[in-house]
Amino acid sequence: MINIALVPVAGWGTRLLPATKSQPKEMLPVGRKPVVQYVVEELVQSGIRRLLFITGQGKTSIENHFDIDAPLISFLRETGREEQLQELQFEREDVEYFYTRQRRQLGLGHAVLCGRAMIGEQPFVVALGDSIIGMHAQSDIVSRMTAIFESEKADVVVAFEEVPPHEVVHYGIAKPKGSADGDLFELADLIEKPSVSEAPSRLAVAARYVFSPVIFDALTQTKPGKGGEIQLTDAIRLLLQRGHKGIGVRLTEQERRFDIGNFESYFQAFFDFALNDPQYGAALREHAKKILDS
Ligand code: G1P
Repeated sequence: MINIALVPVAGWGTRLLPATKSQPKEMLPVGRKPVVQYVVEELVQSGIRRLLFITGQGKTSIENHFDIDAPLISFLRETGREEQLQELQFEREDVEYFYTRQRRQLGLGHAVLCGRAMIGEQPFVVALGDSIIGMHAQSDIVSRMTAIFESEKADVVVAFEEVPPHEVVHYGIAKPKGSADGDLFELADLIEKPSVSEAPSRLAVAARYVFSPVIFDALTQTKPGKGGEIQLTDAIRLLLQRGHKGIGVRLTEQERRFDIGNFESYFQAFFDFALNDPQYGAALREHAKKILDS
């Protein structure tokens, strides 16, 4: 049973400056919660009980967010603010948190490698801290992926979402072995951020992975790739070339991926979540209609 996840949150978020100058992009709110809280809630719901964050400079507010804030709890309790107290329930999730720093910005692959000593010789999940899967993180994609990892005896399982052709340049793109019409397909290759003409499909890596520990050896042998960074995609590619089994799992139609890495998708994510807020969504829809009609 896979119960450990590595959550890389070390990136600088340069595409979101100035919002991310002194706060992590993973702490930007989408609706009511910071992005990374959705990621943690999704993982906990999928049976993950140990979370290892790969952090970096300027990311301590993430650690603070998942701490139990005793003075705040007492204050809310003593002043009878039960409803607001409920909002801190996530602090009590049955999970252990671990943090280590990626001390140099050498890429996502390198960030994952920073977790090696902690993960050791067990299979593990990687969930990127800047991507929410499914509205309100109700997706069980990670538990589907860990089940497939075990039943298929794979070394790599990756989640994919089909994207429009002009978006392939932002993602790792799958080359399936044979047909990729079903929910599952075998991976022949994976290419990091290809041009539209190089892209072997429109199936884009959707920020969730399951790995056997062989990925660490591949990462140590991976040379800097796109952007001069050690790419996780290139390490997966190395494993596939060596005959290790890789499986792609498609997100379902309901499991939209909200990528918070740039303003276009961040604005869309915030807007979607705010429009669906149980308390304020309806009024916001009216407000949006009024603005659009004027
Ligand atoms: C990373 C990966 C890419 C993946 C994407 C998913 O890119 O390198 O393969 O598709 O995450 O969000 P980044 O967004 O860090 O540039």
